[in-house]
Order: sequence, then C-alpha cells, then structure tokens
Amino acid sequence: MKTRVAIIGAGPAGLLLSHLLEREGIESIIVEAQSSDFVLGRFRAGLLEAASVDVLDEAGLSERLHRDGLEHRGVYVQWPGTKRAVDFVERGGRPVWVYGQSELTRDLSDARFAAGQQMYYNVSDVALHDVDSSAPFLTGVDATGRSIRIDADVIVGCDGFAGVSRDSLAQSLRAVYERRYPHSWLGFFADVPPSSDQIIFAWHPEGFAMHTMRSASISRFHLQVDPHDHISAWSDDRIWETTARRLGSGDNDWTLHTGPITEKSILPLRCRITTPMRHARLFLAGDAAHVVPPTGAKGLNLAIADVTLLARALGAWKRGDESLANAYSDSALRRVWRAAEFSWSWSSALHTTGDPFDDQLQLAQLDWLTSSPTGGAGLAEKFSGVPIAFG
Ligand code: APR
Repeated sequence: MKTRVAIIGAGPAGLLLSHLLEREGIESIIVEAQSSDFVLGRFRAGLLEAASVDVLDEAGLSERLHRDGLEHRGVYVQWPGTKRAVDFVERGGRPVWVYGQSELTRDLSDARFAAGQQMYYNVSDVALHDVDSSAPFLTGVDATGRSIRIDADVIVGCDGFAGVSRDSLAQSLRAVYERRYPHSWLGFFADVPPSSDQIIFAWHPEGFAMHTMRSASISRFHLQVDPHDHISAWSDDRIWETTARRLGSGDNDWTLHTGPITEKSILPLRCRITTPMRHARLFLAGDAAHVVPPTGAKGLNLAIADVTLLARALGAWKRGDESLANAYSDSALRRVWRAAEFSWSWSSALHTTGDPFDDQLQLAQLDWLTSSPTGGAGLAEKFSGVPIAFG
C-alpha cells in the first residue's frame, strides 16, 4: 500500500490528524494495534479547552459535543470551610467543555468511517523503517495474519505512551524529561447524577479530591492515594466515605450523591516529555511524545493542538513550504511545557504531602489563586488555554 501519511494509532490524535489532513487534501492510512471496540470503550480524559473546541468546530466534528457536552464557565476550588467559584470568563479566559474522551473518539471515528478513511485495526508488530530517507515505510501484521507494508512520504506516531514510534527518534533524540509524582490517583465513575454544576477541586488535609462529570447521569471522581495502594484495598464503601469526607458532604447544605460505581482504577501521576517531536520523516503527536498529570486536564488538549499544528505544517509542505514542518517540534513543545508547568503547579497546590508547613503554603497559594484578580486571571488562562499557533 502507498499513501502520503502513514499514521500509527487510532486514538484521538491519529483520528483527528487523518481528518485534518483530508481537509488539506492529503490522504493517509491509519494502523491501530487494538480493535475498534477496545479503542472506543476506553474511558479517559474529558475536559476540552475552548481552543480544542474551535478546532472541532472548524473541522465539522462538534455537533454532538455541542448537543451532549456540558459547557462550564469555571470551576470550584475548596478546602475545609471555604468554597470559591473561579469564573474563567469573568477572569478574561474562555469556557471549557466537559465531554468524555470516548465520546469524542466515537465522533472522530464515525467521521473517518463516513469519509472512507483507510483504517486497519488489530495490526500487530508494527515497525518503522527508513525514517531518515524520503521513502519511509511501515510494516506489520494485519488482523488476518497477513504481512502488510505501507509506503509513505511521512510517518506520524500517534501511538500513545506505550507506542513503538518514539524509539525511531533515536538518532535525533535530545532528551527525555521525566517526573514521577509521590502520589497516585484513584479514579472512578459512578452511575449517579453530578452533585455539582461545575467541577470541584478540593484540598483536604487527608488528600486531594476532585468531582467532575461525564453527563447528566454519570459522575467522575478522583482521589489522591498512596502510590503503593492497590485498588483491592478500596471497597466501594471506603471510596464513597473518603470522597464524602474530602469533598465536605454535609457542609453548607451541600450533599454528595452516591450510587453504583461502574469503573475504578489507580494510576500513577507522572510527566514524561520526549524531545524533539520530529526526526527526519517521522513526527510524533499526542501521548506518544508527552504525558502530563491529569490534574490540569491537558493530555487530550495537547494531542488536539499537536495534530492541528502538524496538519497545517504538512499542508504547507505539500504546497512546497517545509518551514512549518521544521517549526513543528519547537512550537508544539512550547505549548507542551506550558501545560507541564500548569499540571505541576496545580497538582502541587492540591496534593498534600503530610508536612504541615506544606499544607499552609498550599492553602496560601489556593487563597491567592481564588481571591486575587491576578491569580484568578492566571488560573483562568492556564485552564481555558491559549490559541493554537506556531511560534
Ligand atoms: N501499533 C499500532 N497502534 C498502537 C501501537 C502500536 N505498536 N501502540 C499503541 N497503539 C495505539 C493504541 O492502541 C491507542 O489506540 O495508539 C493509540 C494511542 O491513543 P491514545 O493513547 O489515546 O493517545 P493519543 O491519541 O495521543 O490521545 C491523547 O490524551 O487525555 C489524554 O491520555 C489521554 O489518550 C489520551 C491522550
């Protein structure tokens, strides 16, 4: 098979990239290791910056998002005895949208199937070849056990944190930056209407808690837990009791609604950034290049920003101008590092360390962010994001 752009991975980054490339008049083929059902069934992030929504609007992919998604002007930040609303719009930012990543992946996938996109699921043993040359190619084994080869002008690794494409950067690799955080997140979904009209970020001496939502009937929560904790130690009763305590259920007439927990897991908080995001004819986008702690909800938004820049760059290259392709890595990484900084500072303000001195510093920081116009404006901008642009 031959195509202009061979894309590895049918997550949000790969699917959106193929859609944006088509709008640039560039054909692509996607290969994905998992089945379509598996990819669509994965629960993950769910907060979209306004700039991400702009991209989806322009690409004609946001009908269901605007119908079923929840537009939020801001968030609540609280600690025992205090609850403050931070209105992003009032502070000079833009609204954000709560919309499950699985829903967005479904929209992207439906749009690609409708457009006749060449997509191969259940492809194993994907390997990259000759990315240094002007004729790179991929090999793999398709769902029927047949060997496949895809020749392309460019290969894009959208294969997530555990993907294979990053290894082919070897000759250009500058650095891999990594930070492991000293705590993990217990995340769970519950079949219960949200107990809040906006996302709640709660500092509590016992640990951070967050309440968000997927829809009018599905709630999502995160709890700071010890990195050595195993999910089997967290019964549903223990989870609800801890959540209620940390979120202050019963305070000021606010009550946490509880219900059946449908999914629960523990994930470590980490940041890992690979630089650069391009080597010769190989480009990386999304989680393949970077993961950031979910506290700032930037992972999905960074993936959208990467492929937006990359589609523009490859479009310009097709018209004979390689300058944007040359600028891609630096431009994408500038945004990535800003998101990494926000994810780090926001995580650091909310996750307790067990040190009473740290507690007081964190509370001072949260007080400033939620009461000072300057602090609030910074938080609003970091949350709601800035336009996606080269530079
Ligand atoms: N061959 C083919 N496909 C692969 C391979 C491989 N060797 N390795 C991984 N993949 C596929 C995965 O199965 C997955 O479907 O690549 C896809 C990567 O998708 P995601 O992990 O969703 O990554 P990305 O598209 O960059 O999405 C951005 O933002 O909110 C965050 O982490 C969240 O997934 C989200 C990400």
